[in-house]
Amino acid sequence: MPSKQDTMNNNSTDAQNKIDTVVTHAGRHPRKFHGFVNPPVVHASTVLYPDVETMVTGKQTYSYGRRGNPTTDSLEEALTEMEGAAGAKLANSGLNAIALAILSCVKSGDHLLIADTAYGPTRHFADTVLPGNGVEVEYYDPRIGDGIRSLFRPETAAVFTEAPGSLTFEMQDVPAIAAAAHEIGATVLMDNTWASPLYCQPLSLGVDLSIQAGTKYIVGHSDVMLGTLAASERAWEKLDTLYGAMGCHVAPDDVYLGLRGLRTLSVRLERHQRNTLAVLDWLKDQPGIGRIRYPALESDPGHEIWKRDFTGSSGLCAFDFQAGTAREEAYSFLNALALFGLGFSWGGFESLAIPVRLKGMRTATLLDEDLQSVRLHIGLEDPEDLINDLDQALKQTFG
Ligand SMILES: Cc1ncc(COP(=O)(O)O)c(C=O)c1O
Repeated sequence: MPSKQDTMNNNSTDAQNKIDTVVTHAGRHPRKFHGFVNPPVVHASTVLYPDVETMVTGKQTYSYGRRGNPTTDSLEEALTEMEGAAGAKLANSGLNAIALAILSCVKSGDHLLIADTAYGPTRHFADTVLPGNGVEVEYYDPRIGDGIRSLFRPETAAVFTEAPGSLTFEMQDVPAIAAAAHEIGATVLMDNTWASPLYCQPLSLGVDLSIQAGTKYIVGHSDVMLGTLAASERAWEKLDTLYGAMGCHVAPDDVYLGLRGLRTLSVRLERHQRNTLAVLDWLKDQPGIGRIRYPALESDPGHEIWKRDFTGSSGLCAFDFQAGTAREEAYSFLNALALFGLGFSWGGFESLAIPVRLKGMRTATLLDEDLQSVRLHIGLEDPEDLINDLDQALKQTFG
């Protein structure tokens, strides 16, 4: 008779399980590793074969360090299950995952549509690498929804989405965009870093390539760069082929830290969400504060889409100072913060802030107002302390 441990932990989960259970169990096979609940960190280049017949027929699970090992398999399997994907791959960073995803679905002569709110370095990749390779890039208003059809051309090969948008937090009607794109055979990509696969499963919205900066919430401790890609049946083969051909590989120590972070994603995100709602509920009534940018708030223009497509919200949000606030005032507020660090890479346990100047940021949807804005990452500290910190910084700046 199989032991309890064999039946409970041997194979990850079945499709019926809720996402919190999947996050806890997926990709773990303790019986393969003497019962240890986590897979080993396999440092490897050479893989040995028992005999030359096995070597030449390739009938062995692992063949060569670059092509994967039990550590990378574990995280890829967990992501495949969480995202309901045909397969998943790991990348050296979120940006590397974005570049790989795009390269897997466009070729010379193609036209690529990118949401105007995409993460800045995504634009940089698209603007610097793609034109030289014969791909024409066009930015579109993220709120376009089904209207994306009007931008389609015979050579449109892919549509890149990101929701909410970087820094300005516009939501996108991803199901409408995906349905329209599929009618012309285009591939749909989504940068889903803000929600993580826990609060949004892009493939269930019609997306073909779901991308994460694993650096943020999956790793969750501000100590590793990682990217993840999950592909639908129609996108998987091309991604897998490109990945192998490019010699992509992520170091096992980094993958292990991704796996380790993944197991607590659910409890961390829940706390990020709760703290963010508490901080914003206080912040919205403070003098000098303008618009709050966070789709989980009823007042946000993207709230209905968020409610329909997402099951939760994370710790990244922004607020504008009221019109007329000078850049020096915004900077002096940021310098006065004591608990919030000044840092760009978010998703860790700690609270962070960065200055954002909205004017001139976009090309398809120009933001004319010269507002000073601040992006906050609300961490796992006690929200009362975070509020006190924001309060004293506002008072120091504006009196
Ligand atoms: C939305 C979004 N996507 C992608 C990235 C890139 O991730 P990485 O820093 O791991 O390259 C970031 C980083 O800030 C991001 O905010």
